[in-house]
Amino acid sequence: METVFEITEDAMQLAMIEDRIVPYAELDPVYLDRGTFFGDGVYEVVRSYDGRIFAIDEHMARFERSLREVDITGVDIADIRRRVEHAFDDASIANAKIYFHITRGSAARNHGTPADLKPNFFLTVTELGESTAKKAGGISVSTFPDWRWKRCDIKSLNLLANVLARRDAEKKGCNEAILVNDAGEITEGASSSVFMVRAAAKELVTRPLGPDILPSITRAVVLRIAEQARLRAVEQVIRPGEAAGADELFLAVTTQDIVPVVKFDQTTIGNGQPGQNTKNLIEAFRQYVK
Ligand code: PDD
Repeated sequence: METVFEITEDAMQLAMIEDRIVPYAELDPVYLDRGTFFGDGVYEVVRSYDGRIFAIDEHMARFERSLREVDITGVDIADIRRRVEHAFDDASIANAKIYFHITRGSAARNHGTPADLKPNFFLTVTELGESTAKKAGGISVSTFPDWRWKRCDIKSLNLLANVLARRDAEKKGCNEAILVNDAGEITEGASSSVFMVRAAAKELVTRPLGPDILPSITRAVVLRIAEQARLRAVEQVIRPGEAAGADELFLAVTTQDIVPVVKFDQTTIGNGQPGQNTKNLIEAFRQYVK
């Protein structure tokens, strides 16, 4: 029976890399990675503090879930963890950022997937820059529409909407974009979770988990240590108007843990300096990772 779409591997003849023609047979499979063609893969970002990888179990569990949710099979997760640890040891960087991804594999570009595809693994270790200044002085953020797909709980390589939001923020002189969905709610940052403090009520507020945000590991840790900063964790939707009028606002992300926000679009948060509750949380986080 004939199908409407071509689902077998195309007979590719040649490729061009920049201005150089390359016969298909000689083409490095890295150019045929489905991660490049389709964003067809998932990733993780882990960090170390003073020579120790932080929350590796949580990150590996999330990675395994991402793989499962996009139906990438045949990956030995214990082996991936060994690779992560091996690369980290080899790099000898005390405060490192470890990025890794797995794509569905390399093949001639076709939405259909050949049966013999083998997943590709890629990893980098880089030294993390100091975030002391940002932590001490706070950062500016700007809002942008959340144009992403409906499964943002999967840490997929499809990050175009995140990149466009961040570019908009950068053009406005801001450090991060805060994504606002069609219902007028803040979902999360382009690459961070969003938290708000209601100082008088001693409440720490963040959006509940769901398909519209990443189950951030840092978010989970912040909720866990809230009590130590004498705050009650509240999982509740935040709207931009509320965020702009918040006593304190901050972002949570693996690479920088907690970063105070002192400007939201055109509005100064609090007195324009990181608030006391946020500082307490930063200190609690510092103790937690020791
Ligand atoms: N980003 N939300 C989004 C959309 C993110 O991309 C990230 C992290 C977070 C925070 O998650 P975690 O606490 O697990 O780092 C929230 C990584 C660092 C990145 O894409 O580089």
